[in-house]
Amino acid sequence: MLATNTIAEEILDLKRQRSAVLLAHHYQEPEIQDLADAVGDSLELSRKARQFDGDVIAFAGVWFMAETAKVLNPQRMVVVPDREAGCSLVDSCRVEDVRAFKQRHPEYAVVSYINTSVEVKAESDILCTSRNAVKVVNSIPAERPILFLPDINLGNYVQQQTGRENMKIWQGVCIVHSTWNAKRLLRTKAEHPDALVAAHPECPPEVLRLSDFVGSTSAIIEWCVNHDAGEFIVMTESGVSHSLHRLAPGKRFHFVPNENCNCSECPYMKRNTLEKVRDCLRNLDPKVEISPEIIERAAVPIQRMLALK
Ligand code: 13P
Ligand code: SF4
Repeated sequence: MLATNTIAEEILDLKRQRSAVLLAHHYQEPEIQDLADAVGDSLELSRKARQFDGDVIAFAGVWFMAETAKVLNPQRMVVVPDREAGCSLVDSCRVEDVRAFKQRHPEYAVVSYINTSVEVKAESDILCTSRNAVKVVNSIPAERPILFLPDINLGNYVQQQTGRENMKIWQGVCIVHSTWNAKRLLRTKAEHPDALVAAHPECPPEVLRLSDFVGSTSAIIEWCVNHDAGEFIVMTESGVSHSLHRLAPGKRFHFVPNENCNCSECPYMKRNTLEKVRDCLRNLDPKVEISPEIIERAAVPIQRMLALK
């Protein structure tokens, strides 16, 4: 406990010395969230990244989120606790394959989920997050065919919500959300028959069909906090439980362990620790470095998304 307090104090000191802001995703450990200047989903953190004064952004999340912050703040330094905090969706979508598709099908609008590399973003017409994907797809003229990258479950959900037929969907998956299935959810529902179900759209369709609400991490938190019900099954990474218990202390939340780890945690997000947050602020490393050309090109689809009200 003493050691943790000391590290927390060091982080606060370093933030002041470096004129730094700490942004944390909802999937971070509670002690990281508690020290952050902003905690949010990927859309909120992209907006926040543009809004503060200071020289350094320490991004406690995964690499593609820090890259997005860098694109939006090319003049600021962006550091991360762990360079290996990646994402299976990013890994599923190689920029060479996206370029090859565009050469064969130049008529397609490329809509990329924010969980893509900055190089893939640079090849995209517009970005989306789990919070605004339906709105983004609806903003594209109906006659224009769409390539949706890279999450098959989010893509299927968006297609079902928009009724869009001319949409090709990449075959990537999140290694956390895609492993949940109807059987596991039904078992948890049987244990907690009064609980409502809130799910992230990266879950498979069979899970979404059994859910009372589908939305991004922040949207799930808002829905559970504001709903009259007192008990929920939450089909996303268990890091959200920190905000849920803080904002709705009297309510009960259940998480469903997935098949791989018997937990509900993202192994990439959980690479970050308080010590590594301190070290990245102290050493200003690992640092996000992106060529000016890619920054310029990737900024276009990100700004298009952020401009959508
Ligand atoms: P959010 O956009 O809901 O923050 O999701 C990001 C993510 O990586 C979900 O697994
Ligand atoms: Fe990527 Fe899934 Fe982890 Fe989110 S939870 S960062 S989509 S691997």
